[in-house]
Amino acid sequence: MQIHRYERWWLTFGISMLAIFLALIGFAAFADNINPPTGMQQIDPTKVAQTPPFDKPALRKLPDGSYEAYYIAEVFTFEPGVLNVPLGGKVTFYVTSADVVHGFFIPGTDINMMAVPGWVNEETHTFTKAGEYLLICHEYCGIEHQNMFAKIEVK
Ligand code: CUA
Repeated sequence: MQIHRYERWWLTFGISMLAIFLALIGFAAFADNINPPTGMQQIDPTKVAQTPPFDKPALRKLPDGSYEAYYIAEVFTFEPGVLNVPLGGKVTFYVTSADVVHGFFIPGTDINMMAVPGWVNEETHTFTKAGEYLLICHEYCGIEHQNMFAKIEVK
């Protein structure tokens, strides 16, 4: 009788711990879903052109004197096609794709990322050298991939 009650206690304890454990795993999965570990922003890839600030992709000056530039990658262009950046400008580039995965690479800078549908990627570079920079797609995305580029003019 004594042993029987003891076993039942352990059984109850075991089931309770299992329930708590499963609840914790469930919560962790749920939390991961809301906050992806990369910290990237999500976006509806079918509504990129209507989603601010991607509805007006351009260079904007921020209150701290730095800049932000929002880009849409779409077969086989980048929008904006030309970006004018003041010399010395610190620019954070935000990019998403309206269709397939594209590359987003500006040789001679720190900017080298992917444009992924559904996600917004970001990287920052300070343009300390004047001149014309090329923004190129360096991820194969289709027949016109090699012609997918834009320009950044720094002066
Ligand atoms: Cu876009 Cu390659």
